[in-house]
Amino acid sequence: MSAAGENLRINGDRLWASIHEMAEIGPGVAGGNNRQTLTDEDGEGRHLFKKWCEDAGLTMGVDQMGNMFMTRAGTDPDALPVYVGSHLDTQPTGGRYDGILGVLGGLEIIRTLNDLDIQTKHPIVVTNWTNEEGTRFAPAMLASGVFAGMHTQDWAYEIEDAEGKKFGDELERIGWRGDEKVGARKMHAFFELHIEQGPILEIENKDIGVVTHGQGLSWTQLTITGKDSHTGSTPMPMRKNAGLGMARVLELVEEIALSHAPNAVGAAGHIDVYPNSRNVIPGKVVFTVDLRSPDLATIEDMEARLAVGAQKICDDMGLGLEIEKVGGFDPVTFDEKCVTAVRDAANRLGYSHQDIISGAGHDACWINRLTPTAMIMCPCVDGLSHNEAENISKEWSTAGAEVLFHAVVETAEIVK
Ligand code: GLV
Ligand code: MN
Ligand code: MN
Repeated sequence: MSAAGENLRINGDRLWASIHEMAEIGPGVAGGNNRQTLTDEDGEGRHLFKKWCEDAGLTMGVDQMGNMFMTRAGTDPDALPVYVGSHLDTQPTGGRYDGILGVLGGLEIIRTLNDLDIQTKHPIVVTNWTNEEGTRFAPAMLASGVFAGMHTQDWAYEIEDAEGKKFGDELERIGWRGDEKVGARKMHAFFELHIEQGPILEIENKDIGVVTHGQGLSWTQLTITGKDSHTGSTPMPMRKNAGLGMARVLELVEEIALSHAPNAVGAAGHIDVYPNSRNVIPGKVVFTVDLRSPDLATIEDMEARLAVGAQKICDDMGLGLEIEKVGGFDPVTFDEKCVTAVRDAANRLGYSHQDIISGAGHDACWINRLTPTAMIMCPCVDGLSHNEAENISKEWSTAGAEVLFHAVVETAEIVK
C-alpha cells in the first residue's frame, strides 16, 4: 500500500459543473432549489446522478427506503466498502450545495480515481440518502435513521406530508423503492463532505472544518387549541387566541435557548395557523420547536422547561395544548481515527483547517452509530444556508472534495 501523495488532486471544474447541472433540476424561485424529497424533481435528480455514476463505471444498489448506493469495486473481495455521500433532496427554499456537494464530491473522487487509474483495496460506495431534510416528511435524516435502526421502515412508510400523502406511497410513485433490505450493508467507514451552514470557517479564514462532534437536536410539535371567532366583533376578554398562545411560547423558547448561551439554539420553523384567514382569530396552531445543543443535559433541560412553560401559558390563557416529540438525536462524537484521517489530509494538501462542531444534523450523525465516521466541512458565504442565496466558491468546494478524496483513499488503501 502506498500513501496518497500531495500531488493527487480532484478536478474542481468538473465537480463545479456537475453541481450546477444538478441545480437545473427543481429550480427554486431565487436561484436556489426546490427539489424536495420524493417529488418528481427528486426522481429526476436521482436519474441524472445514476447516469453519471454508471458513466463512471459504478454499479447501483437501491434499498427499500430509496437510499442509492453506487459501488466502485475494490481489489480485495473480503474488504468492506468505504462509504461516502450525503443527500440530493433540498429544502423548499434550499441552496445548491447543502447535501449536493457531499454526493457529487463523492462522485468526483470516483471520476478522479478512474482518470488516474488507481485501484483501492476496499470498494468505495457513493451514497444518496433519502429525505435528509425532513421538510416534507418529518423527521430529518429519515432514511439514514431507518438504515441505522433508529426507526422502523413500516413507521417511516406511514409518515404523511401536509397533503396526507404517505412516504411509502410517494417512494413507490417516483419509482425509487428498491429491493435491498435497509441496513443490511456492512461498512468499513463513512465520510460526509458538507458545507458548514454557519459562519465560523469564513470568519476564521479557514479552508476546511475538521468535524469532531455534531450537536444534538430535539423537535417538539405543539398543538394549541382555542376558538375560531371574528377578529372584529369578539370582545378582547372573550377571545381564545391560539396564535397569541404560540407567540408567548415562542418568546419562552428564545428565553430558554438564551439561558444556555452560547451552547444552545431554539426556534420554530414550522408553523401552521388555522384557519389562516385575515379576519378569523386563530382557533388552532400547530408548530414545531427545534432545540439544539452539543450537550445532552442541556437539550433535556430545554425540553423539560418548554413542556412545563407551554402548559402554564396555555392554562393561564384557557387554551388546550398537546405536545408530541417528532424527532431528535443525541449529540455525536465522530470517530477519532476518521477525524485524524481528515486532519492529516488537510495538512498534506496544505489547506488551513480547524476543528469544528456541526450545528446542523447530517446523515453521518446516524451512520456514526454503525461504523467509524467523520465529516469534512467547507465554508459558505455569510454562514447562510436553508436559503436560496446559499453560496460557496469553486475553490472551497475543490478543497473540501480534495480532503474527502485523500481521507477516503487513505482509508480504502491504494494498491497501485
Ligand atoms: C438538517 O438539515 C437539519 O435540520 O439540521
Ligand atoms: Mn444537508
Ligand atoms: Mn439541509
